[in-house]
Amino acid sequence: MLEKRPVILLVMAAAAIMIGTVVTVVLPFRWISAQRPAPSAQAPYNALQLEGRDIYIREGCNNCHTQTVRSVVADVLRYGEPSRAEESAFDRPFLWGSRRTGPDLARIGRKYPDQWHYAHFDNPQEFAPRSNMPSYAFLRLPLDTSLTERKMRTLGFRYTNEEIAALKGKTEMDAMVAYMQKLGIGTGKRKQ
Ligand code: HEC
Repeated sequence: MLEKRPVILLVMAAAAIMIGTVVTVVLPFRWISAQRPAPSAQAPYNALQLEGRDIYIREGCNNCHTQTVRSVVADVLRYGEPSRAEESAFDRPFLWGSRRTGPDLARIGRKYPDQWHYAHFDNPQEFAPRSNMPSYAFLRLPLDTSLTERKMRTLGFRYTNEEIAALKGKTEMDAMVAYMQKLGIGTGKRKQ
């Protein structure tokens, strides 16, 4: 009997644990890192969109909005194709979120014209009278660009000096609208 031969039992138990670890831990990690960014997500955020993303984090928009379409019928009918892992390849940190007080924003890009977003941020209740989204009219502040270049370098995003210089005179709201229009562009079909 195996349990009477401690050395063999030990060796076989160790082998079983090793195989279990490889199958449940090591292999899934390899599968995840083998996923490449979607072709359309290959272009990471430009300088203005990246600043918009940081303001989105600062203002805590992800406390009310998710950025991931789940593969359940209700989500797909409302927002379009389910989100894929590679769509978040450049998001550090990712902003999938878990609370949906407002609608999911994973595919908000190009859903509305820029002007709609400006007006909506100024006064969400003008569009949905019972909306509890606060007004973000105060985002018409000049954009702080002192760290933009360093952020882009740290994240490994391509940028040009002209692109950084073009941020002069932009407001925080310009950055936020640019970020909204970038979300989900070309990475999946949005429900019209
Ligand atoms: C207190 C919760 C709350 C916060 C915080 C919030 N929102 Fe909203 N948001 C909502 C609700 C509710 C709606 C749906 C009604 C409406 O359009 O106002 C909405 C709608 C939206 C829409 C339109 C979505 C669509 O598909 O029509 C956008 C875009 C949006 N929010 C962006 C933002 C951004 C960016 C921020 C942060 C600056 C933010 N929201 C902060 C609750 C919130």
